Amino acid sequence: MTWTVAVGNAAGSAGKSTSVVALAALLGLAGRKVVVLDADAQASATVGLGVEPSECRVTVGDVLLRRATLTEALVETVVPGVRLVPASRGLDGHVQQLTGQRAAEQRLRLALIDVDADIVLIDCPGSMSVVTVAALVAADVAVTVAFPTSKEIDGIAEFMSLVKEVAEAYGEMECAAVIPCAVPARNRGGLYVAAMALLDAEGQAWSGLLTPQVRQSVKVPEAFANRLPLPVAFPQEAVTADYRLVLDDLRRRGVLPSGEEVCRES
Ligand SMILES: Nc1ncnc2c1ncn2[C@@H]1O[C@H](COP(=O)(O)OP(=O)(O)O)[C@@H](O)[C@H]1O
Ligand SMILES: [Mg+2]
Repeated sequence: MTWTVAVGNAAGSAGKSTSVVALAALLGLAGRKVVVLDADAQASATVGLGVEPSECRVTVGDVLLRRATLTEALVETVVPGVRLVPASRGLDGHVQQLTGQRAAEQRLRLALIDVDADIVLIDCPGSMSVVTVAALVAADVAVTVAFPTSKEIDGIAEFMSLVKEVAEAYGEMECAAVIPCAVPARNRGGLYVAAMALLDAEGQAWSGLLTPQVRQSVKVPEAFANRLPLPVAFPQEAVTADYRLVLDDLRRRGVLPSGEEVCRES
């Protein structure tokens, strides 16, 4: 059985693509069969997995418009075990065509039905578009990420309310974890520290959902510039260790299947 996770936030630049790529790479390196579906026109997950968007003949836009099957779109990445449905920078045009087409929000779910993977991670766009809805309809569970600044924190609530609407319309699913990303050291950036306190505050809808924090690190943009996932570029760095702790926490929460379950079923 394939387990599908949608990673989203209503704000751009929240750490979504970095997190999808890092988690996918950790899972792939641990022997899981992973598919990353890049549903964002920025194509950061595509680039971050070492694939050049302009060289992809078939992309997620073609799958959404039913011009190609998921299998036709899948490409290998720099990480063994991790395959990718790439995005192209022309995706916004595809999405415009998609809007208003019949059952558009079902397209990813149907496309993923027979995918050969233990885990599918969907990198959602930073907007609440029809593609985000399609990703949520396809997913078993949702995860959100946030830089500790107020804009991204506002994006959590908006994403969660969309998840709730999709759950009401299409059946059980929830946003089960919030990953705090690019968290600066405590003695730096008063603004961030204040926002982090807001993120942590009791009574927030997500106060029980926070995973361990991912620190701010120059190694993140450096890995991206080298078009390598963090665990491949910098396996020994502290920020990569942070993502390992996040992965363990997501398994504990049931957001990701534990290793044993994946092995039993495959
Ligand atoms: N932990 C981190 N430390 C430093 N920079 C980060 C970190 N996580 C993400 N970034 C940077 O922030 C920017 C946005 O991150 P990204 O993952 O692309 O966000 P999103 O997919 O939500 O738009 C990128 O330039 C990325 O390199
Ligand atoms: Mg992104």
